[in-house]
Amino acid sequence: MKNISLNIEKTFDFVSQSSIFSYENDAFRANEALHTLTRAGNDFLGWVTLPQTFSESEIKDIEETAANLREKSEIVVVIGIGGSYLGAKAVISALENNFSHLQKNRKNPLILFAGQNICEDYLFELRETLKNVSYSLIVISKSGTTTEPAIAFRILKSDLEAKYGKEEAKNRIVAITDKAKGALRKLSDQEGYKSFIITDDIGGRYSVLTPVGLLPIAAAGFNIRELLNGAKTMFELTNPSQKFENNIAAIYAVTRYLLYKNCDKKVEILVNYYSKLHYVSEWWKQLYGESEGKNGKGLFTASVNFTTDLHSLGQYIQDGERHLFETVLSVQKPQFETIIPPDEQNLDQLNYLAGKRMSEVNKMAEIGTMLAHTDGRVPCISIEIPEMNEFYLGEMLYFFEKACGISGYLLEVNPFDQPGVEAYKNNMFALLGKAGYETLTQEIKNRLK
Ligand code: PA5
Repeated sequence: MKNISLNIEKTFDFVSQSSIFSYENDAFRANEALHTLTRAGNDFLGWVTLPQTFSESEIKDIEETAANLREKSEIVVVIGIGGSYLGAKAVISALENNFSHLQKNRKNPLILFAGQNICEDYLFELRETLKNVSYSLIVISKSGTTTEPAIAFRILKSDLEAKYGKEEAKNRIVAITDKAKGALRKLSDQEGYKSFIITDDIGGRYSVLTPVGLLPIAAAGFNIRELLNGAKTMFELTNPSQKFENNIAAIYAVTRYLLYKNCDKKVEILVNYYSKLHYVSEWWKQLYGESEGKNGKGLFTASVNFTTDLHSLGQYIQDGERHLFETVLSVQKPQFETIIPPDEQNLDQLNYLAGKRMSEVNKMAEIGTMLAHTDGRVPCISIEIPEMNEFYLGEMLYFFEKACGISGYLLEVNPFDQPGVEAYKNNMFALLGKAGYETLTQEIKNRLK
């Protein structure tokens, strides 16, 4: 049985193996603190043991609720933002057919998203699309008060009630929120929606393996038990009893920390050669950016899809400012086979590739790029995923979460809060005239004069 694997050899020109191993104890202590709840943010560590402790009854409840939504709906709209959006989007995009939106007689509903922006045209076009199909809503907000999803839910709920009537609309809405606090909990209890709880000890960006991610993923028709099994395997492979040299989360965390601290590498680019991983990168950017970017510290998280972006950002990565390193995700075995055919005329001069699989060309592009980038003083960490399925995605999600917790502690920040996110919200509320923000409204008006 294979697992996802890590290779850091292409960083050794920058950080020596011995310097990485000299952090063995720090990484162990950081990892142990995640399990013993003994450092900053210790009230947000429910995700650490979650793959082990998830109850059979909750899995069944999620599966049954998803089956009910699937039966009723051609489209399920998932309303949420940040951690209440990106995990589900990442897993579904990684697994679904690239063109599922065009497939007639789909077995499972199409999952669309709302409330992840406040773009008027996006919501308008979504509402137009929903007019002619059967649909349901999953609304997700831990706090139950986040503006973006609250606006989308207000509008889509009213459309749903107008289309199906209030009673049937209730059967088509599932809420995922706090057990007691917030406007969404109140509304959900009052209206009698089916609901799931996000426990107090799991923050948004660490919540993909709770109903937040699992219900939309199950509604899309994917196997959440396998996702949890993958996460459980990674829980075992990265727990503090593992030796440092075998613990890929600890090694990844230390390597990126040393590249940042000792080599002035301020930007980590998550690279993929498998375009369906685009949203895994978006999820990862939030996980690391929001967990580490505080107190004037933290790597800036960026992402590219190769080879697409070799034709846009490739020049900068090869030759621009040397403040970055890459973490490359590669999928060993594609699901399908496409062979490049011979051509008698060979006008495109591609016959040297005839008979080869596209994946072989992709792999050579990956190896060639990695060599070119290390020559260009860009260290490369590699993560290999044996194949794209629920199990390995579960391993990968848990791997990144665990490494992020360890990284945050190495950096001496609290990886489980996000105080900086409030700044834009306060200004927006003041500008929109929300009660309680009058002083700030005046201050902003003076600044904008
Ligand atoms: O990681 C986090 O806590 C945030 O990104 C939240 O997930 C995001 O702000 C959405 O919050 P909520 O689920 O409360 O609407």
